[in-house]
Amino acid sequence: MTQPLLEVRDLHTVFSTKEGMVKAVDGVSFELNAGETLGIVGESGCGKSVTALSIMRLQRPGRIVGGKVMFKGQDLTRISEYEIREIRGREIAMIFQDPMTSLNPVTKVGFQIEEAMTAHNRFSASLASTSSRAGCASA
Ligand SMILES: Nc1ncnc2c1ncn2[C@@H]1O[C@H](COP(=O)(O)OP(=O)(O)OP(=O)(O)O)[C@@H](O)[C@H]1O
Ligand SMILES: [Mg+2]
Repeated sequence: MTQPLLEVRDLHTVFSTKEGMVKAVDGVSFELNAGETLGIVGESGCGKSVTALSIMRLQRPGRIVGGKVMFKGQDLTRISEYEIREIRGREIAMIFQDPMTSLNPVTKVGFQIEEAMTAHNRFSASLASTSSRAGCASA
């Protein structure tokens, strides 16, 4: 039997607040095979976004305090920051929920697209620039 592409197992992510510990993700498990699409639904505040952020290790100021996220044989909760940056944006990407805070309003959108392409895909700056302008033109 082949391994799932992504296996989230008993994931726990918490936020420390003045009012106490918020258990934003409290024992979430699921798996996803290559080529599959998985939809996660639930009431507002049930932890969908924090689960996705935790998979990409973008959950700060939250902390992953338990469980594992297996992707291609490695636990993403345990690899180095350098290693997760190699995966983030290249192998696992996320469309953030709030578009008003996802792009920086004081920087040109083309530059922000180029920045993501050069940071994650190792495109040269000139190729990223050409591609992002083509993308903007056709968007
Ligand atoms: N920075 C934070 N500090 C404290 N608690 C947080 C923080 N971010 C998220 N939470 C809490 O974590 C829980 C899960 O939030 P999350 O954003 O994942 O919900 P969601 O399922 O994506 O909701 P929605 O459907 O509204 O997008 C909520 O109780 C939320 O208040
Ligand atoms: Mg959400």
